[in-house]
Amino acid sequence: MAPKLFTIVTSTRPGRKGPIMAQWFHDYATAHGGFENEIVDLADMGLPFFNEPNHPRMQKYEHEHTKKWSAKIKEADAFVFMMPEYNSFPPAEFTNALDYLFYEWNYKPAAIFSYGGVSAGTRSAQIARLHLASMRMTPLPEGINVPNFAAHISDEGKFVANELIEASAKTVLDELKIWNEGLQVIRKK
Ligand SMILES: Cc1cc2nc3c(=O)[nH]c(=O)nc-3n(C[C@H](O)[C@H](O)[C@H](O)COP(=O)(O)O)c2cc1C
Repeated sequence: MAPKLFTIVTSTRPGRKGPIMAQWFHDYATAHGGFENEIVDLADMGLPFFNEPNHPRMQKYEHEHTKKWSAKIKEADAFVFMMPEYNSFPPAEFTNALDYLFYEWNYKPAAIFSYGGVSAGTRSAQIARLHLASMRMTPLPEGINVPNFAAHISDEGKFVANELIEASAKTVLDELKIWNEGLQVIRKK
């Protein structure tokens, strides 16, 4: 069975562009092969600001939203986080969703697809990597970073990539495959 790659949409605001970007990456990853792909949208997970009384390492979850989120993340072998930049920072929904769990993230590789203005969301991406590492994920140094992303959205509302973006996506998928194979050894222990 192919390993599972989740493309996680981390913005949840009305009018967000994250799902458009995620759809492009999902389609590219599906054509690339090697993973079973799924888009996971934080807007569908209904996670309020962290409200579990116990530390996530205890896995004594009280709320249905946490149990659902835990079961979902357990399924995955690797992640690509769709990362906007809000005031040079990852969106609060992203850090909130990470904090809900711990072991479910452990020893899984994670890449970042960032998008923004001139900075291409790279400031946000670098900060997000620190948080991923704290959850014992392996954040890839490689990423997909799209500057001036609005210019890549067509009148039909689709993301239109260029050669550079496609090359970055290929590198990310190839690296995720390598890291997943290595980290699976640890996950099986
Ligand atoms: C609160 C807020 C802060 C923003 N800060 C930045 C920023 O620091 N850098 C940047 O490139 N774009 C910034 N933007 C513009 C975003 O790149 C743009 O709104 C993008 O669509 C956000 O992703 P989303 O649509 O998936 O939410 C900001 C947007 C918002 C709403």
